Amino acid sequence: MKIAILTSGGDAPGMNAAIRSVVRTALYYQIEPYAVLDGFRGLATSKYKKMTRKDVSEILSRGGTVLGTARYDDFFREETVLKAVNNLISQKIDCLIVIGGDGTYRGAKAIKETGFPVIGIPASIDNDIWGTDYTIGFHTALKTIVDDIDKIKDTSSSHQRASIIETMGRHKGDLALYAGLSTGAEFIITPENKIDKNTIIASLKQHKKEGRRNAIIVVTENLINVHEFAKEITEKSGFSCRATVLGYVQRGGSPVPNDRILAGIMGAYAIDLIRNKQYGLAIGTRHEELVSYTFKEALQRETTDTIQKLYSLVPKIA
Ligand code: F6P
Repeated sequence: MKIAILTSGGDAPGMNAAIRSVVRTALYYQIEPYAVLDGFRGLATSKYKKMTRKDVSEILSRGGTVLGTARYDDFFREETVLKAVNNLISQKIDCLIVIGGDGTYRGAKAIKETGFPVIGIPASIDNDIWGTDYTIGFHTALKTIVDDIDKIKDTSSSHQRASIIETMGRHKGDLALYAGLSTGAEFIITPENKIDKNTIIASLKQHKKEGRRNAIIVVTENLINVHEFAKEITEKSGFSCRATVLGYVQRGGSPVPNDRILAGIMGAYAIDLIRNKQYGLAIGTRHEELVSYTFKEALQRETTDTIQKLYSLVPKIA
C-alpha cells in the first residue's frame, strides 16, 4: 500500500510532528509513505518524494513544515483537482493525507468528491476546524501571544495606558478569546463577539474614573483598524492608547508539548483509518477522544457551546 502526505495553507507549529507520526506509523505497518512538496501546488504539478524514517528525524521540535506549503487558489478549479487526482492515480497512491486548516479542508473535500480516498488532519493556528477541540498549532500560537501580551501589559501598566493587541485568526476568534482570557483582557473583540467601539470608549472612561491603571483590548485581525481605534481611544477616553499588531511571529516557533502530542496521536490515527479503509474523513479530538467525521461537518462555522461559555466569562472576570 502507498500513501501520500502534504501540508497546505498557513504553516502551523506541530505540522512536522504530524508528518513524522504519519511516516513512522506507516512504515511500522509496511505502508510506503510519499510526501507531496509545497501543498496542493505540488499535488497539481506532481512533486512527490518517497519518505524514509531518516527523512523525519530531528523534525519533531521544529516549527513550520519541512514539506513546504502554499496558498494555491488554482486548486479551487475543477480541472486542477482532476489533474491532481490523476497524478495520484498514476503514482499508484492509495490514499492522500492532508494536514492544514479550513482552506486545506476545502481542497480535501473537492478531492473526496472525485471519489479519491483522502483523510484530513487539522493543523492551523486559527483553531478553525469545527468538530475538533483543537487544531495542531493553536496552543503554540496562543503561548506566543500570551507571552507578548504579558510583556505589553508591563509597559502599559507602568505608563497607565490602554493597549490594543491584534491577533491572527482570520474568520475565527479563538486565538483572541483564549489569549484575552489568559491575560485578563478587559475587552475581546472577535468575529463571534463584535463590540461597538463607543461601548468600549464609554467603559474606558469609567475605568479611568475608578482609577484603573491600564486596560487590554484583544482583537482578531481584519475587524477594525487598530491604529485608528487607538487614536480615537486616546482622544476620547482619558487613557493614552497604543496598538500592537503581532503578525507572523504568531505562526513560528517550536511546538509546545500539547501540539506535539496532538500531532502524534492524530498522525497515527490517520494510518489506523487507512488500514481499516475508512476514507473521506476529517480527524479530531473531542474531550480527549479521537473522532472522525465528514469534511462538510468540519467546514461549518457554528460557534460551539464551550466557546459561548468562554465568551460569557469575559465580562465577569476581566
Ligand atoms: O491561517 C493561518 C493564518 O496565519 C491566519 O491567521 C492569517 O489570516 C493568514 O494565515 C495569513 O496568511 P498568509 O500567510 O497567506 O498571509
